[in-house]
Amino acid sequence: MEYDASSPKSPGMIPSHDRPVLRLDSPLCRGQAHGKVILLGEHAVVYGAPAVALSVPDAICRAVALPSRLGGSGLMRFRFRSASTSAVQVTEQAQPELSALVDDLLERAADRHVQAVDIVMRSSFPAGRGLGSSAACARAAAEALNVLLDLSLSPAGIHDVVQRAENRTHGRASGIDTYATGSPGLLVLDKGRTRTPAVGRQAWVVIADSGTVSSTRQAVEMLRTRFVQAPGSRRAFLEASEALTVNGLHALAEGDLNRLGMRLNDAHALLQPLGLVTHAVQELIDAALAAGALGAKMTGGGLGGCAIALTDTAARADAVAARLRRNGAEHIWRVPLVREEHRS
Ligand code: MEV
Repeated sequence: MEYDASSPKSPGMIPSHDRPVLRLDSPLCRGQAHGKVILLGEHAVVYGAPAVALSVPDAICRAVALPSRLGGSGLMRFRFRSASTSAVQVTEQAQPELSALVDDLLERAADRHVQAVDIVMRSSFPAGRGLGSSAACARAAAEALNVLLDLSLSPAGIHDVVQRAENRTHGRASGIDTYATGSPGLLVLDKGRTRTPAVGRQAWVVIADSGTVSSTRQAVEMLRTRFVQAPGSRRAFLEASEALTVNGLHALAEGDLNRLGMRLNDAHALLQPLGLVTHAVQELIDAALAAGALGAKMTGGGLGGCAIALTDTAARADAVAARLRRNGAEHIWRVPLVREEHRS
């Protein structure tokens, strides 16, 4: 597949002789990462409480990096194309965090011949929906640059680069998005350590995009201010979140999906009074429960973005997805808790 990085929306921005024509299927200088949802524990995880994330393998961000023919230094040209069912968005303005990531990796490069790079990215899922787009894009770019600049970064080295970008993007990031966008399936982050939780019974998570942009940075800051203004509220929030995440993990291990669904509802009830749930997301949650979901909640930073719902069968997931589509969801993803290839 050939990809012409010139933008049809901004003719003349890039002189035609300088248009990078990239092969997205090239084995070289390519990176890729997937999105994620948080099942339990968002926001509390920023303060060290446990949280559970699930990767979304069909939400993929791909990056290609190449030496820039424009000269100069740093990130010279950038193109990001993200798709949802309703719209394709194209931007040629890189986020400062991505430019900083590029500068960071260029400084480490032994091969000083490459001082300026172009990056083209394509994402199958929209940014700003609590699906881990910033971490997935940073990871895809870091992997592509790792090859281009011959850095030989280990997975831990890539993790550090992505986490630095995440801290710049969100102000203070727990690291769960950094981990979850680079590992398959379910993941628990607890006091800085990750593990794979036990799953007693297969289940499906339906993810519905409300179509409204959410800012994790704003949401995290909003909670921090709230906790400062109301002493004791932070501790109460963290204790409640930890208790229901731990209980949810036991339910998951025991295959008690009804109880796990209740913990999702409890998590939503904990986050909702904090002002993180928009009307559109609440409508999706109500619709999912009416369609027979075992539990439903907001996911990620909140202030827009996506709702998630738990179901016990693929058929129920289809029914919930159909209802959510009728209720205005812009995009739906269905993810089994355990993928067939990982089942023992
Ligand atoms: C974002 O996916 C989850 C938050 O808890 C932020 C973080 O953990 O960095 C809201």
